[in-house]
Amino acid sequence: MKRIIIQYGGTGDLALKKLYPAYEHLMEKGDAFEVIALGRRFSTRDEFLSEIIRKDAPSSFTDHLDYLYYDMSGNNAVSILTDRLKALCGESDEVEFIYYLALQPSLYEIAIAQIQQVDNQLDCICFLTKKIVVEKPFGFDLESARRYNDILEKAFTDEEIFRIDHYLGKEFMQNLLLMRFHNDIIRRIWDNRTIESIEIIFDETHGVDQRLGFYEKIGVVRDTIQNHIMQIITYLTMSEPATLTPKDIAVEKEKVLRAISPIEEFHMGRYESLGANSGHIVHTPTYAAFKLFVNTYYFTGIPIYVRTGKMQQEAKSLIYIKFKNATKQVMHDDSIAENAVIITIHPELTIDISMNLKMPNTSWKSKPVRFRFNQSETFGANTPEAYEQIVEKILQGDKSLFPTMQEITESWRIVEPMLKDNLPVEVYPIRTLPRFAESLAKENGFTWFD
Ligand SMILES: NC(=O)c1ccc[n+]([C@@H]2O[C@H](COP(=O)([O-])OP(=O)(O)OC[C@H]3O[C@@H](n4cnc5c(N)ncnc54)[C@H](OP(=O)(O)O)[C@@H]3O)[C@@H](O)[C@H]2O)c1
Repeated sequence: MKRIIIQYGGTGDLALKKLYPAYEHLMEKGDAFEVIALGRRFSTRDEFLSEIIRKDAPSSFTDHLDYLYYDMSGNNAVSILTDRLKALCGESDEVEFIYYLALQPSLYEIAIAQIQQVDNQLDCICFLTKKIVVEKPFGFDLESARRYNDILEKAFTDEEIFRIDHYLGKEFMQNLLLMRFHNDIIRRIWDNRTIESIEIIFDETHGVDQRLGFYEKIGVVRDTIQNHIMQIITYLTMSEPATLTPKDIAVEKEKVLRAISPIEEFHMGRYESLGANSGHIVHTPTYAAFKLFVNTYYFTGIPIYVRTGKMQQEAKSLIYIKFKNATKQVMHDDSIAENAVIITIHPELTIDISMNLKMPNTSWKSKPVRFRFNQSETFGANTPEAYEQIVEKILQGDKSLFPTMQEITESWRIVEPMLKDNLPVEVYPIRTLPRFAESLAKENGFTWFD
């Protein structure tokens, strides 16, 4: 069977930075598929290749990469695409089209309507199967996500729809599940009898001024919290699935999300110079900190604190799981440190377990010692990029790394209070933590793990 990825947004940032490198690796590994990039920025394939693709890109990739000048709002958009796809199908008896929408969500409606028309005209030429891939964030809010989904489901079955959250393709996410469910010692302590609190920190050093047009309409809640952060929380707190199949995992993730109330305790900020060169004032939040609870039997009562955003001093992504410290109370000794699991994603993937062990030459004095797993030291530095894993799963038709529509709608419900108009937004100088992050910690009696 011939497989063709029809790359909407084929000249966009995502395609350039993530998708083409993923396609290149997969093709080099021997995966057989064609890609046709759609965009308006270049008129010809030669121009597209010379401007966008590395000069030394292997022919195993470039020979399978085509380009079509395609303006969705043009009068003859449908016939142009239909003609090119007919040509690409050639004499093949069986073809699979993978429509990959790397577009702003506001273009989904028109793209899907056009895909339906293209499909109708192509149906007769050979045996066709199809898939559609949509990027995150899926919608702008709960209402629009449902509306987009209704449109999608008129044209595709749920089996054919792949909704992306590329964090699910990241090694640390998959490791998180395996660490929890393939280790009995961890499984037994992973609940509210042992865990005191969880911190999730995702600080980035870069800003968004290069992509202001896109980010201005999105902001930190739609960009990161509704999708990546909610997915991390499900992996941290879901119960053991009956099996590690996509269906069983989704059942448990959906239970977690349904057990989270809309976020009430939150703060947002934007960095001082945001949009300074745009000629207008930009109020879009670029940083947020909040607290939530997962009200399941095993996790109720454990506060989960999250802070995430742009233009920070240091790029840092980590999850800090702090265990209760009864010994400190019983021994009346404040110097006994916490036990904790620290999952660091950036700058490198490590998992630390922090334990207290005796300091030599002391009388019963302990010191926290870290037991460390380092992904690249143990397994080498050749872990596939998230998008490579995601695209491979799409090609295979395996839905294990894709959130369900139920997960997406529950996540929109949870963040909805953070999307209201006219919420207070603190302006923070670049490279500093907004003041509210510290006040959230102070009010809740914890310190951010640094
Ligand atoms: N960038 C990332 O790192 C990233 C990461 C995760 C998810 N995403 C998601 O991926 C999607 C795309 O993001 P992006 O950053 O790649 O956006 P982008 O850089 O703004 O690219 C938008 C693409 O849409 C095309 N386009 C716009 N209007 C069109 C029209 N009328 N007809 C045909 N093509 C049209 C543009 O083509 P021309 O420029 O050629 O006109 C361009 O290729 C978004 O949903 C985003 O949330 C992005």
